[in-house]
Amino acid sequence: MPKYIIEKNGPLKGEVVMSGSKNAVLPIMAASILTSKQCTITDIPKLRDVDVMCQLLRSVGAEVNIDYIKKEISITCDTVSELEAPYELVKQMRASNLIMGPLLSRTGKVKISMPGGCAIGARPIDLHLKGFQALGAEIELEHGYVEARAEKLIGDKIYLDFPSVGATENIMMCAVLAQGITTIENAAEEPEIVDLANFLNSIGAKIKGAGTDTIKIEGVSKSELTGTKHAIIPDRIETGTFMVAAAVTRGNLLIKNAIADHVKPIIAKLKECGVEITETDGDIRVTANKGVKATDIKTLPYPGFPTDMQAQFMTLLTSAIGTSIIIETVFENRYMHIGELNRMGSNIKIEGRSAVVPGEQMLEGAQVTATDLRAGAALVLAGLIAEGTTEISDIYHIERGYSEFVEKLSRIGAKIRKVED
Ligand code: EPZ
Repeated sequence: MPKYIIEKNGPLKGEVVMSGSKNAVLPIMAASILTSKQCTITDIPKLRDVDVMCQLLRSVGAEVNIDYIKKEISITCDTVSELEAPYELVKQMRASNLIMGPLLSRTGKVKISMPGGCAIGARPIDLHLKGFQALGAEIELEHGYVEARAEKLIGDKIYLDFPSVGATENIMMCAVLAQGITTIENAAEEPEIVDLANFLNSIGAKIKGAGTDTIKIEGVSKSELTGTKHAIIPDRIETGTFMVAAAVTRGNLLIKNAIADHVKPIIAKLKECGVEITETDGDIRVTANKGVKATDIKTLPYPGFPTDMQAQFMTLLTSAIGTSIIIETVFENRYMHIGELNRMGSNIKIEGRSAVVPGEQMLEGAQVTATDLRAGAALVLAGLIAEGTTEISDIYHIERGYSEFVEKLSRIGAKIRKVED
């Protein structure tokens, strides 16, 4: 199995350019199922998850042409065939469930394997299904598959028990071709929701309020939907990861193609730690040539501190002056990286949903395993500051969500290489 080999690093310096957002491109690719016209999506990231979504779209009859050199993908779904999204595909990528809303809206039925849990938690889709039912769908669960059928979809008011990103996206896409008005209350407010709504409006949907906790969708007819050309927003979690990489190596890094407004909580926390952040139009400079102070973090839905940055920040805080407390409120099991960081010499303790992170830990290189996407990224950052050599296995988790990660890190001075075992 391929591995990353990482040596202790000096400060990261230079410039790095962010790629398109994984969590924006996946729902937008799924949304292209709604229209029979060609959708061209640009600024796409080169990721395994994008390849898996291409396979899924082809399996429903879409014509998909991807050009990673031009960072462009064109999708035409002029006919939609039966879809039974197989477990093999869905278990590779939870975001497979994002084709449910568009397929249900376009064809009136969809059958997909239940996504199953993953390392960070059970991750049910009950809120997605409740939304579909509110719009008139019948839901059947059997043999690990969920089937949704709807003769007609009629707009309704839906209150989400939790501002779920995926449920907000799926219900929004399902409501595009429903009759009448759908209102999603307690909706997720992430920038990726706004990017999806902008894409949907560009093919003729009528959506207002994306980015707030109340989203209104006025249903349109299939004939009103057109094609489009849409550029994906930069990846705010990749941006945050490189910001922390600069901080943890006490470096000086210019991060290009970044939207500072999307990483406000990360900027605020890094400033609390004594890291210097300067924002210019589309770029963020991170300078951390002084010590880093401890701070406390509580993950929350956007615009709170993102759960997808919790593991990376924990690595930083192991080297801070003082003890930090991290509380993970979004997922019930998102501390898998703690065991691996402790094997590298940190002494982090879990108390219920909190993690107590002592500072000034001298990490030592070790053989560690990536358990999920962001835990893997946290271990890469740990490898940059650990004495000696760190070997990370199961790096497929990392390559699901970070485009050209080794190339980008190497260009700013990191001693990291990928070896085929
Ligand atoms: C999206 O996952 C992201 N993935 C995740 O990023 C991110 O961590 C998460 O949002 C939270 O920001 C994509 O966008 C592809 P949720 P999603 O529904 O939609 C519970 C990464 O690292 N819940 O907001 O699955 C759920 O169990 C990935 O890039 C229900 O209980 O997240 C979790 O505890 C990891 N019932 C919480 O809500 C439901 O029906 C948040 O989940 C749906 C969710």
